[in-house]
Amino acid sequence: MSNNNSKKITVIDLKLKKKKKEKITCLTCYDYFSAKILDDCNIDVVLVGDSLGMVFKGEENTLSVTLDEIIYHTKAVKKGLNRAFLVADMPFGSYQVDKSHAIKNAIKIIKDGGAEAVKLEGGKEIEGIVKSLTDYGINVVAHIGLTPQYIHKIGGFKIQGKSSEISERLIEDALILENAGACMIVLEGMVHHVASQITQKLAIPTIGIGAGRDCDGQILVFHDYLGYNVDFIPSFAKTYTNVANIIQNATEKYIEEVKKGTFP
Ligand code: KIV
Repeated sequence: MSNNNSKKITVIDLKLKKKKKEKITCLTCYDYFSAKILDDCNIDVVLVGDSLGMVFKGEENTLSVTLDEIIYHTKAVKKGLNRAFLVADMPFGSYQVDKSHAIKNAIKIIKDGGAEAVKLEGGKEIEGIVKSLTDYGINVVAHIGLTPQYIHKIGGFKIQGKSSEISERLIEDALILENAGACMIVLEGMVHHVASQITQKLAIPTIGIGAGRDCDGQILVFHDYLGYNVDFIPSFAKTYTNVANIIQNATEKYIEEVKKGTFP
């Protein structure tokens, strides 16, 4: 399988989709063969998310993910893609220190990993960093709402924007990030009417996860929508199949056949 027929998706196409009110489809991915399958299905955007800390490494949160791990997975995913727009997360600690540190690390993700955009979590506190990156020609995807890199500050994986103070701050942050040059914004775990207002106010596409159906696109984590995550599926994620069961059944069958001597 190789998606040679479809035109490569660029950031311009994604902005055009918002204008034409065509929904943008996004999924996370961490390896070559999965990337090939998603690309063949004509997914628009593939994100090498720092969610890999939880669904790939089995950690409790995303904080331990390193720049090298993101680059390693981005390289593998890149090899599987012909069409999709490839975004990679900047992990916790890789952009907060200062602008030059952030620029150096973003360049490494683009050069070594092959990503076409980097994603950063945070609101107005990262405005200057977003502006510097975009000034140097690096596409930045912003990410606000339930931002897992702020887990210790927000006190858990909780829906954001329930109070008017927080919902106003989210809207203000979204506008600031767009103004700073972000090309797209992920709205995660957010009261739906707030995500809807942000989507109406911004010219750049909004990609929702647990943020309602009014966003310009949707993203789900690979292991969640496939039912591969046997530890925890977030309430807002929809599970489209049960990969864990498929693997379990095949493995049990293999073990049985080897023990019986019917395989090989
Ligand atoms: O790390 C990730 O997978 C993400 C998505 C959930 C948007 O940030």
